[in-house]
Amino acid sequence: MKHLPAFFSLAGHHALVAGGTPAAVQRARLVVAAGGTLTVAAPRLDSAFDDLRRQSPFDWQPRWPDAADFTQARLAFIATGDPIRDETLAAMARELRVPVNVTDQPRISDFIMPAIVDRGEVVVGVSTGGASPVLARLVRARIERALPARLAELGAFAARFRDTARALLRDVAARRRFWEHVLDGPIGQLVLAGREQAAREAMLVALNRPANERGPVGSVAIVGAGPGDPDLLTLRALDALQRADVVLYDELAGREVLDRARRDAELVYVGKQKARHSRSQDEINALMAAHARAGKQVVRLKGGDPFIFGRGGEELEYLRAHGIAATVVPGVTAALACAAASGIPLTHREHASAVTFVTGYLKNGEPAADWATLAQSRQTIVVYMGVSAAATVRDRLLEAGLARTTPVAIIENGSRPDQKVSVGTLGALTALAARHANGGPALMIIGDVAALADVAHAKPALAEAS
Ligand SMILES: C[S@@+](CC[C@H](N)C(=O)[O-])C[C@H]1O[C@@H](n2cnc3c(N)ncnc32)[C@H](O)[C@@H]1O
Repeated sequence: MKHLPAFFSLAGHHALVAGGTPAAVQRARLVVAAGGTLTVAAPRLDSAFDDLRRQSPFDWQPRWPDAADFTQARLAFIATGDPIRDETLAAMARELRVPVNVTDQPRISDFIMPAIVDRGEVVVGVSTGGASPVLARLVRARIERALPARLAELGAFAARFRDTARALLRDVAARRRFWEHVLDGPIGQLVLAGREQAAREAMLVALNRPANERGPVGSVAIVGAGPGDPDLLTLRALDALQRADVVLYDELAGREVLDRARRDAELVYVGKQKARHSRSQDEINALMAAHARAGKQVVRLKGGDPFIFGRGGEELEYLRAHGIAATVVPGVTAALACAAASGIPLTHREHASAVTFVTGYLKNGEPAADWATLAQSRQTIVVYMGVSAAATVRDRLLEAGLARTTPVAIIENGSRPDQKVSVGTLGALTALAARHANGGPALMIIGDVAALADVAHAKPALAEAS
């Protein structure tokens, strides 16, 4: 370690920035963000200073700094853009014992500035000891991705309840455990999901719980796994998987996505595949509740998005009705993933001004859709679970007036390595669907946009079978 990592309190103190360059503006902004008062000394200021001046007026001395400017400052930053002037000013600061940082010159700096991840109360500084600022920025980018965007809100939330928790929980170890459960448990998840009011209510309940009942509180996250490609998981889904004690998953979740779960998480298959033991929805609901009541962090992992043909809504209602803390993490739904993977834009200024997602699942032998509305021109129809009902879908759309020549694409295993795409016309839909019978999950995209499918990945169009 070449430098001592420390966080310097600048609130209410004065700092000097020598230079009017864009690099000087960055330093000036940091001084203001840390609550310091600022003097900028430079004959000219870059226009990038204008914004800062509007937001928080500062003292500008239109000349290079002198000894008096340095002695009034707790810290000095030098970024004049002229290496010789930088060196002269740094020598002056050092003689006056004012700690100095010179941009891009660690050799003549008393302290260096880290790459910063700023989440309000939570700040992470990354340094490579001046060896490679670019490497520091790359590390920072990784940390940015790993830390939830609402970490600042979580910090502020903790600060708000700090005194109350200290008053109610006198034992230091018990208080530490309590905060661990709060910040790493369902209450923290509510804050990170932007549900501050619900988090506050849960916090009051937790604080008022008798000491012997203050163990870990279980919760359920209903998480969208996306279409099966683990790179299409959201950051929040990944975070939920990595903190899960139990993952209840169905077949659409995909092995590679499950591999992203915490190593020692219990993985429980609750799918409805014919060849495997299947569980009813009631059993799944009961299982989620039992694990959560046992204090576990449960992830209910569902293919695509939980709220699109995924029964996520029913599960959420059940959990709410049974008083179990639950959050929902959206996922990339199959329609969006398949469209992207096959190069089909679902809307297009020239071909489609609307898109509708329907299920082809048959109820009493009929897909439950309003075909007359769906057959309107200039709209894209995406049919989930519809391949086995292709003949009925084709007949109803033709009856409703859609042309036999309307382009159609079927995408099977969208976004996965074994993705298969077929393109053709509505008139030939059943022949097209036959190619995907007994295959992986597949959906149909019907409408002019389907003709834009990336043919390099698609099987050649079928002639209409009539
Ligand atoms: C029960 S629905 C679940 C949909 C899921 N909640 C979603 O948002 O994608 C299952 C249907 O989604 C479609 N599907 C799911 N994953 C798919 C994939 N990777 N490729 C193509 N279709 C997929 C298929 O139509 C499948 O029959």
